[in-house]
Amino acid sequence: MRTLIIYISIHHKNTERIAKTIGDTLEAKTIKLYDADVNAISKYDLIGFGSGIYFGKHHRSLLKFVDRLPRMERKKAFIFSTSGIMKIPYLHDFDKALEKRLLKKGFDVVGKFSCRGWDTAIPFKLFGGISKNRPNEKDFKKAKDFANGLKMNMN
Ligand SMILES: Cc1cc2nc3c(=O)[nH]c(=O)nc-3n(C[C@H](O)[C@H](O)[C@H](O)COP(=O)(O)O)c2cc1C
Repeated sequence: MRTLIIYISIHHKNTERIAKTIGDTLEAKTIKLYDADVNAISKYDLIGFGSGIYFGKHHRSLLKFVDRLPRMERKKAFIFSTSGIMKIPYLHDFDKALEKRLLKKGFDVVGKFSCRGWDTAIPFKLFGGISKNRPNEKDFKKAKDFANGLKMNMN
């Protein structure tokens, strides 16, 4: 299975560490968003898209990148993120903006992963930030399990 992972991780490299964990498990090519080419995606069977959460969504440059992609015919994708606050189902849908764009382009979204990541945005910066030491070993284990689940579903 040819897998490509595209991520942007600018705050504390929290998402980068998750991208690499998932990437190693899937034996994927794992690249930074700025090195990604919208036309190079077609040769992969599965593409992962990830970033930190900024103002309730994935990073806007990742959203814009997906907007620029050509239409895909039922290509498989997965989404991942790290966020300062815990994602509460039905209350926060951090994935909504990215997932909507991927579906619009014809992707089949086969999995979503999120965990917390150290956040020193204002006002949290004043007291050292929230979600300190995240992602942690438990998060990496969950990310690995998530990737193994994807592997099983793709075979
Ligand atoms: C400007 C800014 C806005 C943020 N907005 C949110 C948010 O809306 N919800 C949230 O849970 N975390 C928010 N965060 C925290 C980041 O999502 C979190 O630290 C994430 O792990 C950063 O990932 P990165 O290090 O890969 O960039 C924000 C952080 C910054 C700096």
